[in-house]
Amino acid sequence: MPSVGKGLVIGHHQVSDDMYEIEFILPAMSAECEPGQFVHIMPDMDNGPLLRRPLSLYDVDKKSGSITLLYKVVGQGTRLLTRVRNKDYVDVMGPLGRGFSLPGVAQNVLLIGGGVGIAPLIYLARALKELGCNIKVLYGTGTRSELVVFDKLRQIGVEIMPATMDGTVGYKGLVTDLLADKVNPSEIDFIYTCGPEPMMAGVAQFAKQNGIPGEASLEEHMACGVGACLGCARKLKAEDQHYIKVCKDGPVFSFAEIDF
Ligand SMILES: Cc1cc2nc3c(=O)[nH]c(=O)nc-3n(C[C@H](O)[C@H](O)[C@H](O)COP(=O)(O)OP(=O)(O)OC[C@H]3O[C@@H](n4cnc5c(N)ncnc54)[C@H](O)[C@@H]3O)c2cc1C
Ligand code: FES
Repeated sequence: MPSVGKGLVIGHHQVSDDMYEIEFILPAMSAECEPGQFVHIMPDMDNGPLLRRPLSLYDVDKKSGSITLLYKVVGQGTRLLTRVRNKDYVDVMGPLGRGFSLPGVAQNVLLIGGGVGIAPLIYLARALKELGCNIKVLYGTGTRSELVVFDKLRQIGVEIMPATMDGTVGYKGLVTDLLADKVNPSEIDFIYTCGPEPMMAGVAQFAKQNGIPGEASLEEHMACGVGACLGCARKLKAEDQHYIKVCKDGPVFSFAEIDF
């Protein structure tokens, strides 16, 4: 059940030119968090914009009651969020939305993240590891300094294949080209992806061509975050008669449901 709470900030630091990691304690909320869900955070309760901002669950530690978010500064809300200090309280609603489905038995899974879209795949990787899955992560960014989650992925114990547009680390080019060039589809049971929509479209096409099931986490502009305002309504396929709400029906949808 989603709730609203005040999280005590125990860590907040810059991890790249424009990305930050913030960790806060909210035991009751963290106990409910599942991979792929998100929280709706108020960037600044006194001076900020009225609307909360949606951010994925990047990591959750149910034992300590902590929730960590990874965010990129793109506008007023995320800029205000950078001003939060250790020992401040942040106003958070969550967990919200429908997350990733987890396999009943250990599988060979492929996680594909682009840029800050890698965020929800970290908590997912942790959960999949606990289930005994064999995990490969394709992680695409513009350049080396943007590969900010390397250490976490290593600590979880997954195989990492990076792709950078400038070739400073790993494969030179798009993560979808890395996918087509280096991944043997017969070795993969399920694919999870999050990142820019053109990237996820390429991933879904690869999956469909090779008969691999999978899921993608979508982004839409959000207001209420709980299915009440229609701010995030969209069609999943051009021919669909009805609109879904990304905040409540998603943000995670199966490849079979979406036509990018
Ligand atoms: C379910 C969900 C999970 C998300 N998880 C993360 C995350 O883990 N880390 C992260 O950095 N970002 C995430 N986002 C995107 C994040 O919510 C937006 O970047 C943020 O709301 C921008 O707020 P702002 O006030 O800084 O920018 P604004 O001033 O509101 O907007 C600045 C720019 O960002 C664009 N923008 C605003 N909101 C969104 C949005 N929801 N999706 C795409 N573009 C947007 C605008 O078009 C504009 O160009 C997520 C979005 C959704 C819907
Ligand atoms: S953000 Fe209000 S319905 Fe989704």
